[in-house]
Amino acid sequence: MNSAQPQTQGAVTEIRDGLELGEFLRWGRELHHQGRYEDAARAFELILGMDADNQEALIGRNRAVRRSVPRWHWEMLHDEERAELYDRAIRQAVAAAPGAMVLDIGAGSGLLAMMAARAGARDVVACEGQPSVAETAARVVQVAGYDDAVRVVSKMSTRMTVPGDLPRRADLLVTEIVDCGLLGEGVLGTIAHAREHLLAPDATIMPSRGRIIAQLIESEPLHRKNHVGKLYGFDLAPFNRLSTLEYFDSRLSKHEHRTLSEPMTVFEFDFYTADARPQRTELTVRPTAAGTMHAVAFWFEMELLPGIVVDNAPEHDSHWKQAIQCLPLPLHVQPDLPVSLVAAHDGECVRFEVESEEVVA
Ligand SMILES: C[S@@+](CC[C@H](N)C(=O)[O-])C[C@H]1O[C@@H](n2cnc3c(N)ncnc32)[C@H](O)[C@@H]1O
Repeated sequence: MNSAQPQTQGAVTEIRDGLELGEFLRWGRELHHQGRYEDAARAFELILGMDADNQEALIGRNRAVRRSVPRWHWEMLHDEERAELYDRAIRQAVAAAPGAMVLDIGAGSGLLAMMAARAGARDVVACEGQPSVAETAARVVQVAGYDDAVRVVSKMSTRMTVPGDLPRRADLLVTEIVDCGLLGEGVLGTIAHAREHLLAPDATIMPSRGRIIAQLIESEPLHRKNHVGKLYGFDLAPFNRLSTLEYFDSRLSKHEHRTLSEPMTVFEFDFYTADARPQRTELTVRPTAAGTMHAVAFWFEMELLPGIVVDNAPEHDSHWKQAIQCLPLPLHVQPDLPVSLVAAHDGECVRFEVESEEVVA
């Protein structure tokens, strides 16, 4: 039932005929050097099809897979709280809609699709945009014995069609395509596209809502993750032109820090209506203590179904950690001087700017 395997073969299989094993190895290495890791993995896999013990192909395949498949998949799969909350929400949604056509966007290992099948769904289509991940999900689903109910489609959801890839518009969408900053994997645009092209008008959308919460932070260790000054007798500060202006993930609790404000909501999204159009909001933040602001830490709360909420708040040890955006220059703050904070997103990345003169030299 799975359509992942044939669809991922593409250009690499076309050149298979007529190539010797040695040429294939060279071709795989060349694809890797060109940065075409998915194709390189495919080339090495074809060699393994001919010679299962070929060590060079085994290593080449693994090296290419390591480049194309993010390491966070494993940490994410071990995040039991995330899995349990999704499982509970999926069971509830499937029980409420017997016979539902379920669409899982971003199959990964196939976990959410299999949860839907285990809950009783008989028609589950799980799409995955990364070919090697899609192919592996199809294997996982088959080994788990759910391939009669779950079909893996190796495609980005935004390239799927009804009825080509999905027999009819889906009644239930389950998806977990969020990063530590909620929007970084394109959840807004992806769900908006699905609503328009892939979902029935009254479909249940999981997640249903999202909220981004931010807090001002003093933390020299976090500042040092994105900033350098004089070291070892050299002024390395010009290297900071390579610092990121955007957020990165880090676990707040693992870094010495002080909070300089209450947590505040900066954006709220209703996934039944939201789209990826940029938004901007201005906040006046009253610091709760005097100190040096190095960063804005932010995280999300995501309602899967009413009453079932998953989050990556600092007090929770989720695999997402928190999103940290360091200021280019630290800022003195004090309770009697409100901070003007601008939060903006472009549909995929949330960014903060502070409007103030009180920069620390
Ligand atoms: C965070 S992982 C979640 C995997 C799995 N659903 C789970 O919860 O364990 C997201 C996966 O979605 C895929 N993905 C992201 N956006 C997608 C899209 N629009 N269509 C298909 N796959 C997508 C990524 O390649 C990645 O494998």
